[in-house]
Amino acid sequence: MTDERTVSDDTTLAVAPDVNAAWWQDAVVYQVYPWSFNDSDGDGIGDLAGIIERLDYLEWLGVDVVWLNPVYESPQVDNGYDISNYRAIHDQFGTMTEWERLLDGLHDRDMRLVMDLAVNHTSDEHVWFQESRRDPESRFGDYYIWRLGREADPSVHDSTPGPPGRAPPNNWESHFGGSAWAWDDCREAYYLHLYHDRQPDLNWANPAVREEIYELMEWWLEKGIDGFRLDVINLISKPEGLPDGNPDGDWVGSEHFVDGPQATAYLDELHERVLSRYDAMTVGELPDVSIQGAREYTGPDGPLDMAFSFDHVQLDFGDSGRWAIGDWSLPELKAVLSGWQTGLADGGWSALFFENHDQPRIVSRFGDDERFRHASATLFATLLLTLRGTPFVYQGQELGMTNPSFESLDALRDVDTIRNVRMLMEERGITDYDEIRELVEHRTRDNARTPMQWDATDRAGFTSGEPWMPVNPNHREINVADAQARPGSVLQFYRRLIDLRAETPTLVHGDYELLFPNHESVYAYRRRLDDETILVVLNFDDGYTSIDVPGADPDATLLLGNYDDTTTPAGPLDLRPFEARIYER
Ligand code: NOJ
Repeated sequence: MTDERTVSDDTTLAVAPDVNAAWWQDAVVYQVYPWSFNDSDGDGIGDLAGIIERLDYLEWLGVDVVWLNPVYESPQVDNGYDISNYRAIHDQFGTMTEWERLLDGLHDRDMRLVMDLAVNHTSDEHVWFQESRRDPESRFGDYYIWRLGREADPSVHDSTPGPPGRAPPNNWESHFGGSAWAWDDCREAYYLHLYHDRQPDLNWANPAVREEIYELMEWWLEKGIDGFRLDVINLISKPEGLPDGNPDGDWVGSEHFVDGPQATAYLDELHERVLSRYDAMTVGELPDVSIQGAREYTGPDGPLDMAFSFDHVQLDFGDSGRWAIGDWSLPELKAVLSGWQTGLADGGWSALFFENHDQPRIVSRFGDDERFRHASATLFATLLLTLRGTPFVYQGQELGMTNPSFESLDALRDVDTIRNVRMLMEERGITDYDEIRELVEHRTRDNARTPMQWDATDRAGFTSGEPWMPVNPNHREINVADAQARPGSVLQFYRRLIDLRAETPTLVHGDYELLFPNHESVYAYRRRLDDETILVVLNFDDGYTSIDVPGADPDATLLLGNYDDTTTPAGPLDLRPFEARIYER
């Protein structure tokens, strides 16, 4: 039962019901990107043994769960999201025995492990795909989405894939640029790939495919993992007839394959068959999901526990979408985050994040990584850890790591950026990288993938070899060793905040009330549970701002602030650049 009450003229707040909290609601998750976390064997690529070496660090930081990006066998076209064997560990990362040691190491420290699973698609090297392309009559023949395509005018030479005279079955686009269809010479048909052409989409409409997925998930759960992060899991159902999408859409076809007709039914089945039997957490990566959609996926009767949504990290998209830069404003950020906070208050649960392996560093993106790196990094930390939902911290975020610079296109590793930027350059007739450099540096997923900065030595303590991606030169100042030793560091602030959240149920479960929705510089909100009220005040400006919070209690206690000498106010709050304060009364 929920109780609705009006809290101000423009905010209606749904009050959270008494919750019988699941463990994952109270958790703070730390994301480990194995390629870049810690390399134990000097090949320049992070590995499982390297992660094991750093478990004491994660325990010290106070996080409860590790989300491990894919470590399965894979040709690594998309850094592991192209899986060729779901039950094996990729050689470069180590062995199954090391993976087991990692799981035990986490469990010994009272931490849990969430595996990342991509089952919208596999690698083209997966035996299912190899068999499917070889023999349509085999039991794998219908494991993927094959079509003969349309007849095309053979005299028209365009860039669509396929032999002369044939065109793809529809106009859907791959997220990585170009048609979502590739022609396979062996089977002489098109197959669908919403991502890279080496990541063919599985045909979830085939019950045998779903069985395979349920079995492999059960296999991992039986090995003792604590949950899954499910990659692009709302894309698994494609509508009958595969209709054309709006050609002007940002991702052509997405109105058909996002939250497709059977998506919920498939996930309900997955829940019933597998997930309901384990005390595991499931977080769905849900591109373009609406608040209502997320409520359905993650509400009390929904198949998943929590949802990654992306509205807040799309605020800086330009008119033409992701590969353009747009302006964002604080009122917009507040509106988006508050919409999700109140929208899921009485059903559903958010996975809170500002960074991950696909997003630029938040301090460079929405903060100020030059003059106010410390203040803006800790301000975002405060926001992340004081909202309702389960916070996810991406490796290096706790140091305030920044975007690096990319001198040339050759410096890029990310397949998404390389493809999309090449296409963009062709379309716009750009030959000089400098003309597009600002956009690349703003948007590329490589921003988040530079090696973790452990210390100030040459390779940042990440590897003894040549790192697969250069370390950010600012590792001399921004690194774990320094930050652990310095009480005022971003890292120490994260640690205190994680602690604070762990001992303050109001921050996890309390309701949320936005103050000053239209204020250009200040983001302030109250969290309330039973008799406790917490007030969070964040100055997003690089200048000073004074604000009078109605009903602010002069006897309020400052729980935490990102400037050392903050005191409890009587009267208006005078906030310094990117100042963040958490009060309790
Ligand atoms: C989302 C993942 O986070 C991203 O890294 C990947 O490229 C796509 N899904 C495709 O699996």
